[in-house]
Amino acid sequence: MDFTLSNEQKLIRDSARDFAQVELLPGVIERDEKQEFPESQIEKMGKMGFLGMMVNPKYGGGGMDTLSYVLAMEEISKIDASCSVIMSVNNSLVCWGIEKYGSEEQKKKYLPDLATGKKIGAFCLSEPEAGSDATSQRTTAIEKGDHYILNGTKNWITNGNSASIYLVIAQTDIEKGHKGINAFIVEKNLYGVTVGKKENKLGIRASDTTSIMFSDVKVPKENRIGDDGFGFKFAMKTLAGGRIGIASQALGIASGAYELSLKYAKERKAFGKEIYKHQAIAFKLADMATQIDCGRLLCFKAAWQKDNNIDYSQSSSIAKLYCAEKAMNITTEAVQIHGGYGFVKEYHVERLMRDAKITQIYEGTSEIQKIVISRTILQ
Ligand code: CAA
Repeated sequence: MDFTLSNEQKLIRDSARDFAQVELLPGVIERDEKQEFPESQIEKMGKMGFLGMMVNPKYGGGGMDTLSYVLAMEEISKIDASCSVIMSVNNSLVCWGIEKYGSEEQKKKYLPDLATGKKIGAFCLSEPEAGSDATSQRTTAIEKGDHYILNGTKNWITNGNSASIYLVIAQTDIEKGHKGINAFIVEKNLYGVTVGKKENKLGIRASDTTSIMFSDVKVPKENRIGDDGFGFKFAMKTLAGGRIGIASQALGIASGAYELSLKYAKERKAFGKEIYKHQAIAFKLADMATQIDCGRLLCFKAAWQKDNNIDYSQSSSIAKLYCAEKAMNITTEAVQIHGGYGFVKEYHVERLMRDAKITQIYEGTSEIQKIVISRTILQ
């Protein structure tokens, strides 16, 4: 594995960094406080190509590799993790899921708008009683003529309100267990689709997380993804790639907190010298730098495996587990380095600490990643 970045990859990383500084940093504190969806920022991200980075250009995407996506995710997440989760779900769950497993008609119909951000997508797997235990789907899709009739409730749906295209996982035959699960592309404007209440969250507050109710929704048969019964594997395979996105989000949150801490430690004086000259602070910074370097390599490795068609379900879970755990530690240490200033909003690190927490929970908790990893090493 050679992780020397190409000129194109450096350009993508640098333009994501500049974009985040110029377009996302102003107003990030207010959007978080007011839980205000970053509508104009997401529109610009779509125009910049950040919402369909890996999609083939023939469907309107950027045709980039996963490593470029990781680089951009890190830079966007350093500044605004609400924007980066919207970006991650749209890129790695929705666009990738449709492009990898959808029919040619589905790709032509849905990808151009999703890849350019004209429409946003959401991935609807979790339910009130099926979060980690994803096979226990209660949402049903019953075949009737040329349609499926969809009924049920999905919870914790990132982009629940802002999305107009949902990928919905539902049970089509309860007798068959996980082999009786299918995935469907469901348009929000179908009769019987209702967006539930927006959650008032600890972190990533500017992104919209809602429940979604489906009541006798007529989903055309041609909107099923893949062969009958492929839905659970579709979800697992798609989530394996999604975890690379969330790992890079966690990495970005951690490196954002680290960069702010480094700057603060060089400016702030205590006991007659800049605080970085005190070993207690210097060692914290050294630990942060070490963990960020490790996390970045794990993200790069998982991305490299995905780009080279090597099974990455273990490496994406390792990257996500490690980066999420370290993001929590590093952001907590960043608040500590900032002292009282770290506890107030203007210094950004308290938000990064709140945002870090969700990376240990969504797209599979840290405990779920340990299940995936242990199964692969113990088989
Ligand atoms: N790739 C391909 N197939 C896979 C797979 C993978 N990565 N993981 C499992 N499978 C297959 C298995 O091989 C098995 O198939 P066979 O019976 O044909 O052999 C089938 O799927 C069932 O697998 P398991 O028996 O391992 O299933 P399980 O019920 O024990 O669950 C689990 C495994 C890893 C715990 C899984 O349920 C899981 O990942 N849960 C977490 C779900 C999750 O991440 N939810 C997050 C919601 S989405 C989200 O957060 C998006 C957002 O908005 C940000």
